[in-house]
Amino acid sequence: MHSIIHNLPARVSLCLTPLLLSNTATMQSFSAPSVSLLLLPLPLLLLVLFSSLLLLLFLQWRHDPVDKRLPPGSMGWPYIGETLKHYTENPNSFFSIRQKRYGDIFKTHILGCPCVIISSPEAARIVLVTRAHLFKPTYPPSKEKMIGPEALFFQQGAHHARLKKLVQASLLPSAIRESVSEIEQIVLKLLPTWENSTVTTLQEMKRYAFDVAMISAFGDGWCLEMEGIKNLYQCLEKGYNSMPLDLPGTPFRKAMKARKLLNETLRRLIEKRRESRKQGGGLLGALLGAKDHKLSHLSDSEIADNIIGVIFAAHDTTASVLTWVLKYLHDNGELLEAVMKEQEGIQRRIVEGNRELTWDDTRHMPLTSRVIQETLRTASILSFTFREAVEDVEFEGYIIPKGWKVLPLFRSIHHCADFFPQPEKFDPSRFEVPPRPNTYMPFGIGVHSCPGSELAKLEMLVLLHHLTTTYRWKVVGDEDGIQYGPFPVPKRGLPLKVTPRNKKAI
Ligand code: HEM
Repeated sequence: MHSIIHNLPARVSLCLTPLLLSNTATMQSFSAPSVSLLLLPLPLLLLVLFSSLLLLLFLQWRHDPVDKRLPPGSMGWPYIGETLKHYTENPNSFFSIRQKRYGDIFKTHILGCPCVIISSPEAARIVLVTRAHLFKPTYPPSKEKMIGPEALFFQQGAHHARLKKLVQASLLPSAIRESVSEIEQIVLKLLPTWENSTVTTLQEMKRYAFDVAMISAFGDGWCLEMEGIKNLYQCLEKGYNSMPLDLPGTPFRKAMKARKLLNETLRRLIEKRRESRKQGGGLLGALLGAKDHKLSHLSDSEIADNIIGVIFAAHDTTASVLTWVLKYLHDNGELLEAVMKEQEGIQRRIVEGNRELTWDDTRHMPLTSRVIQETLRTASILSFTFREAVEDVEFEGYIIPKGWKVLPLFRSIHHCADFFPQPEKFDPSRFEVPPRPNTYMPFGIGVHSCPGSELAKLEMLVLLHHLTTTYRWKVVGDEDGIQYGPFPVPKRGLPLKVTPRNKKAI
């Protein structure tokens, strides 16, 4: 899933101490000057000893005995590693500079962890698919606690496979095709609120993606608990992206409180559905059904964690991608015209048939679909994912020690000119032919790949259908940067002025 702050490196302190004591060569070289050292004034003596200790730590850090078999790269300074550089440099150039220097596999030390960074499709496939059992998903404990430790992302092996099947069942095309009309209703309510005003695209897309996520979690139909869930979730989200400081008044403490209340609300909802003997729709219905039919034994907290997990995974991601779609279409006028034409064709058929937008319509939007594919590649909002080696792993001639993090860089692969010529150019036509295997993975690959990819694409298509046939939009201001929060999005969330289209033109 979608965030990147990690545990402190127990391994660093554990591996430094015994080596300091057993490195006899270093100890001997320190014994000769020891007599003369005793003649120094105490403060100076302490300074010399402290500097020597630092030097020793530094030498040890840079010349680990297993270093030769570790991938190339710099571990930076003791303890802080290259974290400062990671924060001060643009995250993408931090990786690309090192990739140029060391190749497709290199080591570094960031955010408190020794890491191996990989950016070749073959290596990514090994970590995420063929030897996935050796690389477990890894998240900071505070994040895991907030989403719920029993959510899909954190599971492994047979238990993960069983849970994934249940979650995936409610997100397959056969399950979501019935939700087109509900998604369309959300769009038709949302878009008029943008008319003739300046909106922050990211905020609006979050509203939209959240409402769609609620449908996928609970099915259609509003109930009393929904409003409460919405408010509590917003509080949870604020805390998720804050420092994990469990002190009175901090966003983290408030979020943990909201998480507890969310659990209670969800339990009430589960109880209500059970009492009425209607398991209802959405993921909740699927999970309750599994329990009722004794196919598997999901506890209430397991159900709650997975509902929160899916809402979490579904909404910021899709909202960020949609924000980029609007930016790219705005900046590429001819492309926007072509997309409008495609959507007008669909609209004509809908008007002629006196009907609503259907799932089949969304299967006949090839250009709009390629725009979405190219946006997912260019923006690569999930630049990379995290895994952790569960044992010492031999990998392409190197050793990845147990406990080290492994980061497959989706973004580097998506921006490699060997696979995507002129990678910085926004060019949906490149997807007229399928990309080479394992070079395009905006939804991940392997056992933990995204179960919500079809829903995400569907909701983007439905929104683009109505937006392009009814409105025009213009970016306000000429700031052309990127902000991270937590995903990369256009500066200030892309403020837009939205106006109705001249209907005669359709
Ligand atoms: C454009 C929007 C989205 C993008 C770019 C995206 C991307 C991803 C990626 C790359 C992963 C794999 C992470 C890894 O391997 O560590 C993932 C996992 C996941 N996504 Fe999405 N996602 C999106 C939307 C959604 C939606 C709409 C849902 C649900 C309705 C969803 C639910 C999940 C879940 C539950 C997982 C965890 C799967 C597992 O651990 O087995 N995502 N997503």
